[in-house]
Amino acid sequence: MELTGKKIVLGLTGGVACYKAAELCRALTKEGASVQVVMTDAAEHFITPVTMQALSGKQVYSSQWDPRVANNMAHIDVTRQADAVIIAPCSADFIRKLAHGACDDLLSTMCVARPRHVPLLVAPAMNVEMWTNPATQRNVAQLREDGIAILGPAAGDQACGEVGMGRMLEAEQLLAELIASFQPKVMAGKRVLITAGPTFEAIDPVRGITNLSSGKMGYAVARAAHEAGAEVMLISGPTALPTPFGVTRVNVKSAQEMHDAVMAALDGQHVFIAVAAVADWRVVNPSAQKVKKTGDGSVPQLQFEQNPDILASAASRTTLAGHPYCVGFAAESENLIEYGAAKRERKGIPLLVGNIGHNTFGQDDNTIILFDENGHTILPRASKLTLARQLISEISKRIDQHSLFRRP
Ligand code: C5P
Repeated sequence: MELTGKKIVLGLTGGVACYKAAELCRALTKEGASVQVVMTDAAEHFITPVTMQALSGKQVYSSQWDPRVANNMAHIDVTRQADAVIIAPCSADFIRKLAHGACDDLLSTMCVARPRHVPLLVAPAMNVEMWTNPATQRNVAQLREDGIAILGPAAGDQACGEVGMGRMLEAEQLLAELIASFQPKVMAGKRVLITAGPTFEAIDPVRGITNLSSGKMGYAVARAAHEAGAEVMLISGPTALPTPFGVTRVNVKSAQEMHDAVMAALDGQHVFIAVAAVADWRVVNPSAQKVKKTGDGSVPQLQFEQNPDILASAASRTTLAGHPYCVGFAAESENLIEYGAAKRERKGIPLLVGNIGHNTFGQDDNTIILFDENGHTILPRASKLTLARQLISEISKRIDQHSLFRRP
């Protein structure tokens, strides 16, 4: 659970996207958050406080003049304990209020009264014309200047029947953004390129050779890098995983395609993390047609040739922006410490991550070991996301001294 112990104020304003706020409330509590719902009068036209009370397990606040609040200070008390305030949906009118510091209902008063260290995130939801209206855009720019995080909106079909920008982000995306808001922004301003998943080497149009990599570790690293504030590009072999929110994904199949995609994207990257389980060999001349079974029981003879080593190529390349900090992964079945240190040298990289236990493919947990120029450090067993966050933190500490690895 990602939000255990966190106190979240979930504000709802008027908009049909209130139905998504019900889902968001549920998702927040499932992650362990304690959720205090606050609704405007307009929100109550779209969804009832009873629904939100049932989902949050707490009485909903909506009025400044609520006789249930003994000291009549809900606008102060609630935000003093909050770890974050998220307004979803946030209407054009509520954005206007926030931009001007209005205090004419409980929710707007709460936003103004909240301590400055409590982050405020808003998820706009409105018709495309309302969103693109210059007045709304002026107000949104003001919110950004005031340090308020604007989540979305997305483009697409709107409940009003029109199409365009203004749809509220889905609950799971808002949840991911809220979780990300609690992560330290140690990679702000950095560009990070990551490979993940297996590769697929064709034998013919319907058959091929691949491996059991699920892509979970690489996707966790991509998510953690995005949460840390980096601009992330994920070059992925075939996996069944959803793209982490905020990450640009390029799909490839073979090692050669992965190599070409990495080389095309490498310029300007600050960090390259090769997590993919790349096939070492590919079939020479894969058949253009499906290979037929023969009646005499003879079997096809496959010939292999070596694939390019993507990590080693990236590590030896100097780009316009200098040399990216390259990180490799190693899955050895024995002598990990000895082989890991040697592999780091051989690949010419400053940091190598070893998986302890040779079959981590498809698992949610892992134990990893970091090899750098000073030796090795074990990161104890944890979820792949936790380890990915630790890895990103370790990389962020090292990239400032990265001039050591800058080639002439
Ligand atoms: O040499 P080995 O396959 O053990 O090295 C593993 C590391 O090198 C991983 O980081 C993997 O993503 C990367 N690699 C690569 N291209 C290859 C083989 C491995 O980038 N052809």
